[in-house]
Amino acid sequence: MSRSAAARADAAKIVADVALRGRSLDTALVIDSRATKQERGLIRALSYDSIRWYLRLDAMLDRLLARPGQKIDPDVRALAIVGLCQLLYTEIPEHAAVTETVEAARHLGHPRAAGFVNAVLRRCQREHAQLGEQIDRDVAVRTAHPRWLVDALNADWGEQAEAILAANNQRPPFWIRVNRRRTTGQQYRERLAASGIAVADSMHDDEALLLADALDVADLPGFAAGDVSIQDAAAQLGARLLAPRPGDRVLDACAAPGGKTGHLLELQPELAELVAVDVSPERLTRIADNLRRLGLSATLVAGDAGEPTGWWDGRPFERILLDVPCSATGVIRRHPDIKLLRRPEDVAALATKQLQLLRAAWALLAPGGRLVYASCSALQAETVRVVEAFEATGAKVREAAAAVRIAAGTAGMDGFYYACLEKTEGQ
Ligand SMILES: C[S@@+](CC[C@H](N)C(=O)[O-])C[C@H]1O[C@@H](n2cnc3c(N)ncnc32)[C@H](O)[C@@H]1O
Repeated sequence: MSRSAAARADAAKIVADVALRGRSLDTALVIDSRATKQERGLIRALSYDSIRWYLRLDAMLDRLLARPGQKIDPDVRALAIVGLCQLLYTEIPEHAAVTETVEAARHLGHPRAAGFVNAVLRRCQREHAQLGEQIDRDVAVRTAHPRWLVDALNADWGEQAEAILAANNQRPPFWIRVNRRRTTGQQYRERLAASGIAVADSMHDDEALLLADALDVADLPGFAAGDVSIQDAAAQLGARLLAPRPGDRVLDACAAPGGKTGHLLELQPELAELVAVDVSPERLTRIADNLRRLGLSATLVAGDAGEPTGWWDGRPFERILLDVPCSATGVIRRHPDIKLLRRPEDVAALATKQLQLLRAAWALLAPGGRLVYASCSALQAETVRVVEAFEATGAKVREAAAAVRIAAGTAGMDGFYYACLEKTEGQ
C-alpha cells in the first residue's frame, strides 16, 4: 500500500469530518504519530487547501458527475474534492495526483469507488477551464465563500470586499513577535540570518517580523526559551493600543490562549498585576503554558467575564483588554473552516454576547482608565455596531476614543478591529 495514497485518504477523512460532519479543522486534524514529517506536511496542506477551496471544488464536482445530483458516500465525495484540489491548487504533478488519489479509495475502504474517482479527475483535467468559466460567474463560488458572508462583506466593506475575499484564500503569512524583554528586533534578525531564515517585512518598531516562509516553531531560534512568539502583526496591536503604564492593574478579560497576555507583560514589566480571565478552564492551561515558556506570570482566573461577581475582588482596573469571542471572519486565511461552519445566526448571537461582555467589563474600569475592545471579526455587527450600541447606553466615553479597522490582507495583516474607549474621570 502506498504511503502517499494513505496520506490522501487521511486528508479525505479530515475534509469529510469538517465539511460534511461539521467538526472544526483543529479537532479533525489528527495525524497518525507514525507519519513522517513529509507525510504530515502533505496531509495538513491537502486538508487546509481542500477546505479553503471547498465551496468552489464542490461546485466543480457537481459539474463533473456523470449524473447530476448523484448520491456519493461522504468519504468518497471528500476524496474526490482532495483530488480536484491537487489538480487545481497545488504543484503536485497531475499524474501523481490522479494515481495516488484513485489508490486512496482502497485505503478509505471503498475500493469500488476507484473508477468513479478516476473518471472525475480525468474529466477535470480535460474540462476544468471551460467548467471553471461557468461556475465562476457566481462570486460566492469563484471565491469559495458562503453567499451570506459575501453579502455581509459587500454591505460592510463596499469596493474593498473583493480584496478581502481574495486575502481570505491566501495561505497565511508567518508573523513572529520578538520578546523585547530578552532581545531586540535587530539582534533577533541576526540570529535568524545565521540560521538561514529570511525576513520579508517588519512592523511595530521591528518587533513584528514577517518571515519569508512558514516553518516549524521548533526551528525558530530561542522559541522554547521564550525569545519569540508566533503572533500576527494585527494581533500585536492590541497590547500596544492598551499601552499599560507602570503600576497599572490590568485585566485581560478573554485571555486564552494568552497571545496578548504575554505581549502585555513583555511591553510593561512594572505592572502592579495582570489578571487573565477565561471562561474555559482547559484553555486557561494554554495561557499557563505560554507564560511559562516566556518566563512571565499573571493571576489566572477561570471565570465568566460577563458575570464578574464570581471572581472580581472589587478593585477597579486602570487598563482592560476585552478580546471578545467572535465569528473570527477576519482570520479566515488561518481558519478556512470558518467559511463552512459559521452561520449568519451565529453572528447575531455573538454580537449580543459581545455587548454584554463590554458592559460588564466597563463596570470594572477605573475612572480615567482605558478599555480596548478587540475583535477578529470582519463584520460591523460584531465590531463598530457593538461599540455604537454600547455608547448609546449612555456610557461616558471620552471624545478622543480611537478605532482601528483592518481589512484582512492589509499590509500582510489579519482582519481585526480595535476600539480604544476611555472612561471620563468621576464616572
Ligand atoms: C478571541 S479569543 C481570545 C484570544 C486571546 N486574547 C489571545 O490573544 O490569545 C476569545 C476567548 O474568550 C473566551 N471566552 C468566551 N466567552 C467568555 C466569557 N464569557 N468570559 C471569559 N472568557 C470568555 C474564549 O474561551 C476564548 O478563549
